[in-house]
Amino acid sequence: MPGFRRVVAAISGVMLLWGCGPQPRPTAGQSAGTDSSKAHGTAFDEASWRPLLEKDIPPDSLGASIRRGLYLIRFTNESLPQNVPSNLRCVSCHLNDGTKVEAAPLTGSHARFPKYMGRTGAVIDLAERVNYCFTRSLAGYAIPKTSREMQDILAYIAFISKGVPVGYKLKGADGLISTPDTLDGDGGRGEQVFKAKCQVCHGANGEGAVPPAPALWGPRSYSIGASMARRERAASFIKHNMPFNDPGSLTLQEAFDLSTFINSHPRPDSPGKEKDYPAGGAAADTPYDTFGHKAFDPPPRLFPHPNAKGTAEVPAPASIRKSK
Ligand code: HEC
Ligand code: HEC
Repeated sequence: MPGFRRVVAAISGVMLLWGCGPQPRPTAGQSAGTDSSKAHGTAFDEASWRPLLEKDIPPDSLGASIRRGLYLIRFTNESLPQNVPSNLRCVSCHLNDGTKVEAAPLTGSHARFPKYMGRTGAVIDLAERVNYCFTRSLAGYAIPKTSREMQDILAYIAFISKGVPVGYKLKGADGLISTPDTLDGDGGRGEQVFKAKCQVCHGANGEGAVPPAPALWGPRSYSIGASMARRERAASFIKHNMPFNDPGSLTLQEAFDLSTFINSHPRPDSPGKEKDYPAGGAAADTPYDTFGHKAFDPPPRLFPHPNAKGTAEVPAPASIRKSK
């Protein structure tokens, strides 16, 4: 249909001209491109937007990469045992293949990066952000940014972000939903609830007894540098998503008691954590010492990272300008 194509080309030419007009300059505290529900004149209707699903994966080369990315986030420690010594998978926390709004959704992440991360003190891209979860949440090692596996994971995240305008923040886009941040938790009470409602899947020693329930503490759990090691972040996850068979049934206080109990156990170290938040501003419940912050209720001891000198850190992007 050459006529149709010409019309489309003419329309997109006009759109391009609109898009290239003078843009308002961002004012202080506001970054260009955030909350652009009207990107290039096309209204984005979040209420009716849905991420694409496994059944929508196209039957071509890109589809093969997307599918492989999906299986890597579903079976992370099984697929990449060299990189993941824990028994966690990406979907252990990013539930429903990364699409559950209450569980730090990856839908739309493709449109939210590059982004400034206070913990790094730098602007980072999506591959670096994925590696932060490899090293900290999975207590493992960064995978090369140019690897096939990284491209596949990024292809999957782009697939479940399809249609979200660049810079748009979907509901849940800031990670786990913020809770009223009292940080008041009682580990003794938490232990009682754990025995009654969590142990059946996660095991008496928090080791993840019934797969796919992963470890909550111990040498095969998330590291101290993971968001989940913070009392408030874990309480939010638990309140909205656990017990797995009855989410939403706990009170917020029970969730704080449980996160206090869970995070009072030994877990893997995260080498380099003392260099986090180089400009200050660590969250109040960060459980380790870092710039301008004293550890909040740290675990009693840490398991050394199997290769403390290796690739367990994701350094801030290097500058090509050599400093003297
Ligand atoms: C132990 C839990 C856990 C595991 C396992 C985990 N993550 Fe995360 N991830 C989080 C949390 C929590 C956040 C949000 C940070 C916050 O809420 O403070 C996050 C954030 C992210 C983000 C940033 C999302 C955004 O748009 O800002 C990406 C991308 C990501 N994770 C990818 C992955 C990938 C890929 C894997 C597997 C290799 C993985 N994560 C494994 C807990 C986890
Ligand atoms: C019916 C089994 C089951 C019960 C009961 C259960 N969980 Fe889970 N939990 C899971 C599964 C399965 C996952 C990983 C999700 C996935 O793979 O889809 C998970 C993930 C988690 C995670 C994030 C991953 C990690 O290892 O850190 C936390 C934290 C957690 N559960 C805490 C709890 C708490 C606290 C309770 C009790 C209130 C509880 N769970 C009860 C099955 C269960």
